[in-house]
Amino acid sequence: MLVLEDRTVTGDLVIRGERIAAVGGQAPVQPEDSVMDAAGMYVMPGVIDPHTHFALRSGPYTTADDFTTGTRAAARGGVTTIMDYTTQPREASLVEAIQQRRAQADGQVCIDYSLHVVVADLEHGQMEELPDIVQMGIPSVKVFTTYRGAGLYSDDWAIFQLLKRSRDMGLLVTVHAENDAMVEGTKALLTKQGRTSPAYHGQSRPALAEVEAVNRLIFLAQAAGSAVYFVHLTTPKAVTLAVAARQRGQPVIVESCPQYLVLDDSVFIGPHPEEFIWSPPIRPAAIVASLRERFKAGEIQVIGTDHCGFTRAQKRQATSFHDAPNGLPGVETSLPVLYSRFVATREVSIVQLTRVLAANPARAFGLYPQKGVLRSGSDADVVIYDPRGEHTLRDEDLHGAPGCYTPYAGRRIHGRVAATLLRGQVIYRDGQFLGKPGYGRFVAGQPFDLTAVIG
Ligand code: URP
Ligand code: ZN
Ligand code: ZN
Repeated sequence: MLVLEDRTVTGDLVIRGERIAAVGGQAPVQPEDSVMDAAGMYVMPGVIDPHTHFALRSGPYTTADDFTTGTRAAARGGVTTIMDYTTQPREASLVEAIQQRRAQADGQVCIDYSLHVVVADLEHGQMEELPDIVQMGIPSVKVFTTYRGAGLYSDDWAIFQLLKRSRDMGLLVTVHAENDAMVEGTKALLTKQGRTSPAYHGQSRPALAEVEAVNRLIFLAQAAGSAVYFVHLTTPKAVTLAVAARQRGQPVIVESCPQYLVLDDSVFIGPHPEEFIWSPPIRPAAIVASLRERFKAGEIQVIGTDHCGFTRAQKRQATSFHDAPNGLPGVETSLPVLYSRFVATREVSIVQLTRVLAANPARAFGLYPQKGVLRSGSDADVVIYDPRGEHTLRDEDLHGAPGCYTPYAGRRIHGRVAATLLRGQVIYRDGQFLGKPGYGRFVAGQPFDLTAVIG
């Protein structure tokens, strides 16, 4: 069954070279053709994960996954394009940061990739570089309303200027939205009470910090006349604010992640709460249940994973929520975990899941229709998902850097990725990785279209 943007159809998918040549119907087979039989399976556009951090330096830690191990794991999870974040010190040139990140990724990636640029020092020349980065095929930046200690924080004035400038240059501003003062105040309070073990991570970054920052950013974006994209939202209240803004005609795009839809803060009660430390944190079960309803209602437009893979050994060095490496591996499990939790249970259609995993991220970041859709002329990036069978996910089933683990261990998974094709090449099939580092390419994004409907 072929999964299109608005429906499923039965029929053939014809690939010629790197592109899709025909979708649906019955195609005549030429003698030189190789044929894959996907009867009983879903044939979907390759997953686009718009939120990864490979080879990320974070304080004293560097993620275990680099561009090779990370994209190899991604291919096994049905992902054909990742979008990673540049990493650079304050006062760095954005153009240089892109060049450095590209030098790290080119030749190493097993799947296609694009980038977002982190901006944290707009006053010192970064604002002037923005048109150049759009020209370089990177029409999105990320700002942080928190992480002051890491030098990533931008204040409201800087963000407002950025939003205003972004409007006319086809740049999409993405935001990590947590009120910094609320987070730091809560952390200080817990520290005073001696409650700093990793188990308190969830409490240390309250849901209200996210809701307040989202509310403020929507207000600022409206005043600036710009779009805004929220990364990794965790709260139904923030999603509701975004929906209300969209209903007023404001382009507000919401991304959430599998971890916020399927895990809850009971993980912090277990013996290794540090393995579940990432930010924003996983929320209490009632919030998660309500976020799931928002997801089922189609109010979350994009799913990213925020993949940031540390090993178990790295995680176990943590003594408190202050010093734990933040992040989780997710790129390989996103499709099977979400398929199992929402499609196998018939709560979300395969069409809707595919839209948030492929077409919508492609539309938001200027990759559509080259990527994200099964359409004649599009890149032949395809995942074949076999819904039959069940298994329990184990750490050994992952293929990222050695020593990584999955926070979803023990979950029942329905079906499996049977094959992944990148631009017509089979890069994964039936348990075997067939790709190679360097086959992936940088894909340039087109400028953001303020009028684009991302449904
Ligand atoms: O804990 C996380 N999410 N680490 C990666 C950086 C970020 O905030 O996205
Ligand atoms: Zn973030
Ligand atoms: Zn992130």
